[in-house]
Amino acid sequence: MDPLVAAAMQARENAHAPFSGFKVGAAIEDSTGRIHGGCNVENATYGLTLCAERVAIFKAISEGARAFRRVAVVAETETLTPPCGACRQILWEFCGDVEIVLGNLKGRSETLRLGSLLPRPFDQSFL
Ligand code: THU
Repeated sequence: MDPLVAAAMQARENAHAPFSGFKVGAAIEDSTGRIHGGCNVENATYGLTLCAERVAIFKAISEGARAFRRVAVVAETETLTPPCGACRQILWEFCGDVEIVLGNLKGRSETLRLGSLLPRPFDQSFL
């Protein structure tokens, strides 16, 4: 199995999702090959919930990583779970048109690029 998908699957095990019951794992490979995992962390206020993708990218940034090769997202769904709109925007900020691997627990996966999920993005090039 792709080690990045395996890392996302592993991170998913730590999901704190008592409200939705929907566990998500993400993993991001930086330019040195280091893998940063993340899981969703829900909150009783609901609105303060953080998605797995944002936990993973913020962990990576806080560890000093600044360039990224690939992102993986894993959930237990038949239709592979894509990053939400907010996560697409945050991932674009740091990863640009990065490769994204979507996977599920049955071993299904699909590889696409962030640009196909977030066409015509707003970013620092406009500022
Ligand atoms: N969630 C993620 O962590 N990533 C996604 O790509 C989709 C949604 C989380 C947020 C919340 O904890 C739960 O899944 C249900 O929306």
